Amino acid sequence: MQKVGVIPGDGIGPEVVREAMKVIDAVTERRGIELDFEEFPLGAGHYLRTGEVLSEETIGRLEGKAAILLGAMGDPRVKPGVLEKGVLLRLRFHFDQYVNLRPVKLFEGVPCPLAGQGRKIDMLFIRENTEDFYVGLGGRVRRGVSRTELALVRKAFEAKLDIGIDLKDEEELGFQIGVITKRGAERVTDHAFRLAAEKKVGLVTSVDKANVLTDMYGLWREAVEKASAKYGVQKEFQYVDAVALHMVRNPERFRLLVTPNLFGDILTDLGAALQGGLGFAPSGNINPEGISMFEPVHGSAPDIAGRGLANPVGAILSGGLMLASLGHREAAEDIEMAVVRTLSEGRYMTPDAGGTTSTSQMGDAVEKVARNLDR
Ligand code: NAI
Ligand code: MG
Repeated sequence: MQKVGVIPGDGIGPEVVREAMKVIDAVTERRGIELDFEEFPLGAGHYLRTGEVLSEETIGRLEGKAAILLGAMGDPRVKPGVLEKGVLLRLRFHFDQYVNLRPVKLFEGVPCPLAGQGRKIDMLFIRENTEDFYVGLGGRVRRGVSRTELALVRKAFEAKLDIGIDLKDEEELGFQIGVITKRGAERVTDHAFRLAAEKKVGLVTSVDKANVLTDMYGLWREAVEKASAKYGVQKEFQYVDAVALHMVRNPERFRLLVTPNLFGDILTDLGAALQGGLGFAPSGNINPEGISMFEPVHGSAPDIAGRGLANPVGAILSGGLMLASLGHREAAEDIEMAVVRTLSEGRYMTPDAGGTTSTSQMGDAVEKVARNLDR
């Protein structure tokens, strides 16, 4: 039996995970799939009670799981970053979840900020999740001559950077170094093109800024060329600024996009807006050879926590992504179909999208459809 770790977390995390579990139970029961869930009480409450952010022992228990479902981390009682970095980033790093999977799909009935009716927005972002400008290499230097030693330590390699800075007429300088490795670019682009071949998507859009940031994204492009040839799937190169423009002017043109970390971070939030808001956006932090973690894109939303106002659709869809990655493709499709049917009916919409449906009413509605799907 496949084992799943569930981390509801903070704020609205537990509220939306509860609804996701209802729907997961509905589709797995219907299809005779047995999953063994274990809940982990990580987050602010647990931290304030026990002092544990994320212990080695807990990581060890999570290592025995086939996948992880997470709500959200972050609480106003705890210093920003402690839980977000200490749990989320630590897990992503520990399990080397190098692919960030972000489907951007606008469902019928959901208000979209773009003009025009019935937009067919349906694109899939594959964002690199470990490198680029997020490797944490940087520093600040004041007037004079200085040397800074920086190290980038990874499972696969270790890089030492010895940086000498001589600030002649300048008072202070801050710098941040982006890093893309050949292996890092190749593994994520390979995943993107393999997925494109599986899903019969004819064209993959690679996003970069290779006209200005030539070294990093030049290397990135080589990886894209290689993956495109390997899987026999066409590619196009687009600059990130142009992609932002097209996503607003003509989002229908995109199907599958592969992006380095920073640009993917920004564009997928634009994507979340196009699909009706953060509450609708699911994601996966994927290690195709290891343990993946699925979570709604939104955070813990302390401003609305505990009031039944949270939209659980992003969490429910994240459950679908998890089932697909566990090999239960039909059950995953059931989840999406249940969401589509519920939303298109027009009776249920949470307040973030202009309705009055509560979190649990939305979960119940999707669950009911999921239990009665005949197709
Ligand atoms: P947030 O995503 O929690 O909330 C942003 C805004 O969107 C808020 O007004 C919130 O009410 C609304 N919102 C978010 N999800 C919603 C949903 N499902 N239904 C209806 N409305 C929703 O981001 P914010 O406020 O910047 O961060 C709050 C906390 O969450 C912080 O501690 C932050 O570090 C953490 N965070 C955690 C993430 C994660 O666990 N992956 C991701 C982003 C933020
Ligand atoms: Mg973001």
